[in-house]
Amino acid sequence: MAFDIKDKISGHLKARLQLPLVPGKHQAQIIAISARKGGVGKTTSAVNLAVSFAASGHKTLLIDIDPQAHVSTALRRDLKSTHGNLSDVLLGKKREVHEIAYATNISNLWLAGSEKHLNETENCLAAKIGKETILAHALENTRTHYDIILIDCPPNLGTLSLNALFAADYVLIPSDMSALALEGIGDILSTVETLRDRMHRPVEIMGVLITRYDKRLKQMNSMVETALHELLDTPLLEARIPQNTALNKAHLKGLSIFEFSAKSSGALAYKEAADEILEILGLAEHLHVQEDVVSAQVTSA
Ligand SMILES: Nc1ncnc2c1ncn2[C@@H]1O[C@H](COP(=O)(O)OP(=O)(O)OP(=O)(O)O)[C@@H](O)[C@H]1O
Ligand SMILES: [Mg+2]
Repeated sequence: MAFDIKDKISGHLKARLQLPLVPGKHQAQIIAISARKGGVGKTTSAVNLAVSFAASGHKTLLIDIDPQAHVSTALRRDLKSTHGNLSDVLLGKKREVHEIAYATNISNLWLAGSEKHLNETENCLAAKIGKETILAHALENTRTHYDIILIDCPPNLGTLSLNALFAADYVLIPSDMSALALEGIGDILSTVETLRDRMHRPVEIMGVLITRYDKRLKQMNSMVETALHELLDTPLLEARIPQNTALNKAHLKGLSIFEFSAKSSGALAYKEAADEILEILGLAEHLHVQEDVVSAQVTSA
């Protein structure tokens, strides 16, 4: 175990001795991107939506709370912060996520997150009272420094995901067109219902974002869409993220789709999804930067 009791106690003392973070002038809306099924495009969505929001002039913080740390590969930015990491926040050594966030070379985009000990941190939290509320507290002041905070969740509903859902104003659920993905959506919906009813969290389901969409599979698509509407009664975003190899290649290169291939079907779909989300958040009127500005802002990765 990487953290012993002495480490934890000295961490808490250090956090107490720190000066409180000066509040900013923003009030971020927080979106958790969560799905129980693996590989449905949570990280791809988190990264490309975050880059699109940032390009629209919104101060965006992308938090990677998945121990797999895929945001760092998807953006080929080392999620290393000289000021600490997410484990420090969850174990009480740092008070606010803002303290561990760092600016990327994409204008308006900050990252905070995962590192190799996050799994152990989740285990350490197991016996802690109020363990699912830690991130929410650590975002209270942080959110005053950003317009939008996105949280990329792991493919399960463990303590790390619960922290993200508890902290969130909205949950966005990426889903491919498969029965297994639908099953996972039901679990998230009931978790959110519990958070709302029993823990009085005002978290809302923003909707399901269909990913890996193949418009040729008409029968399967209509079955899944009917199930989403009729069985789960879940809002569906209008944008459909297509199955697009450019998204996969961009991931392998460590670039957002806008940097890799701004005219690909994946880039256009993520821009459409981002605009739809900005509309839901009431931030659409602030759109003032064209999509091609992203590549201009980014120096080579
Ligand atoms: N629409 C798409 N078209 C083609 N490839 C995609 C698409 N979306 C995601 N991928 C690729 O599929 C793989 C899994 O995607 P991603 O990492 O975003 O899923 P995830 O839900 O975050 O997975 P995990 O549950 O492991 O965190 C990646 O290699 C990614 O590049
Ligand atoms: Mg992921």
